[in-house]
This record gives sequence, C-alpha cells and structure tokens, in this order.
Amino acid sequence: MTEHSAGNGRENTNIESLLKEGRVFKPSAAFSKGTEVGSPAAWEKLRAQASKSPVKFWEARAKELRWEKPWKKALDWKFPFAKWFVGGKLNASANCLDRHLEGPRANKAAIIWEGEPGEQRTLTYRQLHREVCVFANTLKKLGIRSGDRVAIYMPMVPEAAVAMLACARIGATHSVVFGGFSAEALRDRIQDAQAKAVITADGGWRKGAIVPLKAAVDDALAQCPGVETVVVLRRCGSVVSMKEGRDHWWQDALRGVGADCPPAALDAEHPLFILYTSGSTGKPKGVLHTTGGYLTHAAYSARLVFDLKENDVFWCTADIGWVTGHSYVVYGPLANGATVLMYEGAPMTPAPDRFWDLIERHRVTVFYTAPTAIRAFVRLGAEHVRKHDLSSLRLLGTVGEPINPEAWLWYRKEVGGDRCPIVDTWWQTETGGIMISPLPGATGTKPGSATKPLPGIDAAVVDKDGKPVPKGSGGLLVVRRPWPGMLRTVYGDPERYRAQYFSQIPGCYFTGDGARVDKDGYFWILGRVDDVINVAGHRLSTMEIESALVGHPRVAEAAVVGHPDELKGQGITAFVTLQTGVAAGPEMVDALKGAVAKAIGSIARPDVIRFADALPKTRSGKIMRRLLRDVAAGVKTSGDTTTLEDFAALAKLQPVQDE
Ligand code: WTA
Repeated sequence: MTEHSAGNGRENTNIESLLKEGRVFKPSAAFSKGTEVGSPAAWEKLRAQASKSPVKFWEARAKELRWEKPWKKALDWKFPFAKWFVGGKLNASANCLDRHLEGPRANKAAIIWEGEPGEQRTLTYRQLHREVCVFANTLKKLGIRSGDRVAIYMPMVPEAAVAMLACARIGATHSVVFGGFSAEALRDRIQDAQAKAVITADGGWRKGAIVPLKAAVDDALAQCPGVETVVVLRRCGSVVSMKEGRDHWWQDALRGVGADCPPAALDAEHPLFILYTSGSTGKPKGVLHTTGGYLTHAAYSARLVFDLKENDVFWCTADIGWVTGHSYVVYGPLANGATVLMYEGAPMTPAPDRFWDLIERHRVTVFYTAPTAIRAFVRLGAEHVRKHDLSSLRLLGTVGEPINPEAWLWYRKEVGGDRCPIVDTWWQTETGGIMISPLPGATGTKPGSATKPLPGIDAAVVDKDGKPVPKGSGGLLVVRRPWPGMLRTVYGDPERYRAQYFSQIPGCYFTGDGARVDKDGYFWILGRVDDVINVAGHRLSTMEIESALVGHPRVAEAAVVGHPDELKGQGITAFVTLQTGVAAGPEMVDALKGAVAKAIGSIARPDVIRFADALPKTRSGKIMRRLLRDVAAGVKTSGDTTTLEDFAALAKLQPVQDE
C-alpha cells in the first residue's frame, strides 16, 4: 500500500501490539449453546451455503420478513446498479410493528427510553404501533404523500423512531440529519433531498443544556422555500418561534387524528431513506437505501450478530442521525421484535458512570458502542464501571472505527466481566448493515480484528487491479458481489455513485478502506485510504472542512488532514495560508474554528490550526497531503501553532511527485 497509505499510523501500532498479544478468545460453551450459529462448523456450513448460491441464500433471509406480495426476481444486477426482490411488496413499519402484534410480543417493551434529565418511558409494541399510526395519519393530514422526502432533525427521543417509522408506513422517504449538525449543514441536506417537510423538536437535552434544534431549523429554512410543513415536538418547553401556516406543534397536530392507518404496500425498491455521509469530495453524498433489501440485511445481521433473544434488552448507543442508529436502534432490532434501550443524552452526564448506571437499572443484556467512547471510559478509570452491577450483560459490540487491542481488552474485562464475547463490526453507511463481524457463538475473536465477512457477503482485500493481495499484506477492501443492504445510488447523482464506488477497482464495490487478511482469514481494517477522516467514529470529509475554511474572507488556501488522537481516533489539523497582510494569531484561530463549526457542526471543529506562508505542492499544483499528514502526526501539543510554518525546506527534502 504505497500509493494509498492508510495515513494513520495508529492502527499499525495497534496491530503490532496485537501481534505481541496473539490470543484468540473463543466463545464459552455456555454462550454458544443457546445461539443460532453455535460452532465454527455451523458457521462454515452457513458460509458454504451462502457462497454456493448467494442469491438463494438472501432470498431465504428475505422470506423471514412479511411480504404483501412475493417478488418475481430476486436480483436484477446491471453493474453497478442492483435491484433486489423485484416485484415484491412490503412495508418496513409493518415488519417492525404490526407483525409483532399477533402474539405475546404485543405487550412486550419495544422501546425503553430515558431522557438525559432522568425521565423514563416504555413503549410496548402495541403502544409504539399506535403512536406510529397516529403520526402517519398526521403526516397525511399535513399533505405528506408517498415518495415525498421528509427531513428529521430530532433529539434521541422515542418520537424520533416514531417519525421514521411513520414515514416508512406511508412511503415518505426520511432523511435524518444528526442533531449536532449546524443550520447550514441541515440546509444543504434539505435542499439536496428537496424535502417537503421537517420534523424537529423545540430542543433536546445534552450535557445539561438544551440543544436549540428549532432555532437551527428556522435558520436553515430561510433558504429552503420548498419546505411547506414543520412539525415541532415539545420536548424541553423552551421558547421557540412558530411560523403561522408552516409550523405545527407535534402534540397539537395529532389531536383528533385516528389510529387506523394500514401500512402502504410498497415496492421492494421503494426508497426508504436517504442518509448523508462524507465522501472524498466536498459535498456530502445522499446515500439512498430502499425497502426490501435493506430491511432483509438489517434484520438478518441484527439477529445473528447480536444473537437477539426474546428477553434481551439491546442497547445501541448510536444517535439515530447515523446509520448505526437506523439499522441497530430502529429497523434491525424492531424487525426482530427485540426490546431496545434508547438514551437521549451524553455519556458523562450528570456523572461519568451514567452508561453503567443505565445498564444496571435497565438490565441491559447486549451493549453496542463506539471505540472512541470506550477509550474515553478507559481514561476515566475503571472505578466508575466497578461501582455498578453489570451482570446482566452477555454480549458486547463495537462499531465505527478500528478498536485498539488495549481498549478491546479493557472493554472485555471491565465491562464484560471477562465473560461476554465482543463483536467488532465493520460496515458503512453505504453497506446498510454489518458486513464483517464475528458471530458471537461461533467465531474466536482476536482483539482489533472484525474477523470475517458475514455469510452472504463477498468481501476481499485486493490491489488496484482487483487481484487479491497475499495473506498478511495490506490492500484495498472491496465487496465483489452485490448484497441486499447495499446503497442503490447517490441521491440525484447516479454518476457520482458509479465514480465513487465502482470505478476504482474493476468490477467491485470499493469501500474506501484499507485492510489486510491474516493467515487465518481474519480481516484487519487499516482505516480510510481517501480524504475522509474518522473523528470519534464519525466520517468527515477533509474537503468539506477545507471549503468551510476557504469560505472565510481572510483565508487564501487551506488543507486539512487527520492526525492520530488517542481518544478520538483521529483529530483534525488544518494548514491555512492567509491572505497577504493578515496576521496569524489566536483570534484568527478562534475565528476559523468557529467558521467550521458554523458550516458543518462542532464535530468538525479543527483541533489544531497551523499557518503556512504557502502549502507544499507537487509540480502540477496538488497539495502534498501525505507530507502534511506526517507533519500533523508529529504534533506534540494540542495547542495551536501560530508561528508560520516554512514548508520550503521540508519540500526540498521530499521528492516532488504527483500523488
Ligand atoms: C470505519 C458506520 C474499523 C471504516 C457504521 C468505514 C470501522 C467507516 C469499523 C464507515 C470497524 C466502521 N473497524 N473501522 N469495526 N466500523 N469503520 O459510514 O473506515 O459512519 O469505512 O458507518 O467507519 O463509517 P460510517
């Protein structure tokens, strides 16, 4: 991997330390006994079956859902465009709700919710079904129709799931925008999807303060004339402005609305949702997922990877603004009739043991979180964990970025009491569901490895020509065969879909990640090979941050790279050249950080800003990012350097080649 350096030395260090570690953690006999795939032999059998006839294998998974009309053709693959279960009709909300009302699950908890201030609510499947039906009818009353796009900008409250499922019920395509994104980011996403309505709240609680969601919506909508309707959930009781005719309080809008709302029978390829994610060019991509294939993948992976059982309490800590919240807070677990815990706020509020307190009180059995959170807990110290009885836990998971073996081992010991298997799950917004992961009752795990592709998924590590690289060497992670949960296109831009995912490696879907496969066939993810950085498990495009910086009137040029960060995985370093005559100083640093937070949200705020007279470039004028990455990786302090960098000398030492 010389052309495509993973760029982030951290993972490599982890791998070295793992090689020293070298242990394989086998699931205990007791755990394996009760699982669907309970031995390496059972896993192998499933894999062999799936490889022999992948389409048939996925058809069998799809049949586990409820269809209003069976499909005529399981897969229509016209490279690179896939259609799954063509001609079939179903409804995602009916699969997540109505299906469970016929037996004892009707009165089982679907969502157990806790607000950051401590309120608690439990919605049974029957109650959730009713709320979804009433809200779906409310959306219809407000003029929302099948095929319309609806933006959802909500805190982590049950109504966020209700809003998603209500859209799914009537065939409106939801586009959830993470509540931490700024008004400008929200505006861009609303405009790109041409959303007709926005569902939001007066605010949400985070770290003891109210996140002013409605105010951000108001700012965004000043430039979104296409939005006719806004529904505002009263969550915090804060004062917000309401625009006559456009804005409706959620609680008022559903008064007098009935609960009889038959689910629309939708085509398997009906667009279920759009979710925006960063790509290697500036503009976020609207990843489009459709109904039948996505739900098949989400339901199958949730059941197998998390070994969902009737009496589990499953807690995935992701916000619904990310794909993890879509697939493993809402669609995957609910399609399986599971009980999910949903928590509104921050992990350290009001005290560093909030998560452990939640697990203890709600008797959580399966816990799924991000490596960045685990590293933060490691740093805080195990005493916060040890204060609580976590004996209800039986399985742990991670997602979002490579986990360093040290954090993995800590997680296993301190949180999992050395008894819970850990599933390190690799996947992406684009893949819809988990792609590479242990099956907890069958796979021996190695700390830091996501282990093997799920049966049905044909992932491989290849070189630029698509040839598999030898075991042990790094290469590019691709998927060679279509799978049901794959994105169908980039919303409104099929050319970008093709160029971004299917043009780089012949015949394959390219993930953008580097990886290697070890002698046992285990996959080790090495991180992104493109201009996407992964900060605290969230993908950010360096170009997007650069365009926010260059948008500042005093900035001439900017280059953004990731640097290793112990806590967040990667931090953001921006190299900035100012307009002539503008002084570099702390005020400029603050102004530039503020400009990025305003354009994208505070998750994208650079940690370090370094000023340079000129950025190092190749002869053809491309910024030498690899060099900047090395310079950024050398940052010792997290403080800002306001002295000017002189790259002239550095550049002379480097061969000036095109990247
Ligand atoms: C990274 C999140 C290593 C990877 C579901 C991928 C991981 C990007 C893992 C997708 C993992 C996710 N090990 N890296 N277990 N899971 N990644 O779209 O770089 O927010 O391409 O989806 O996160 O991030 P996204």
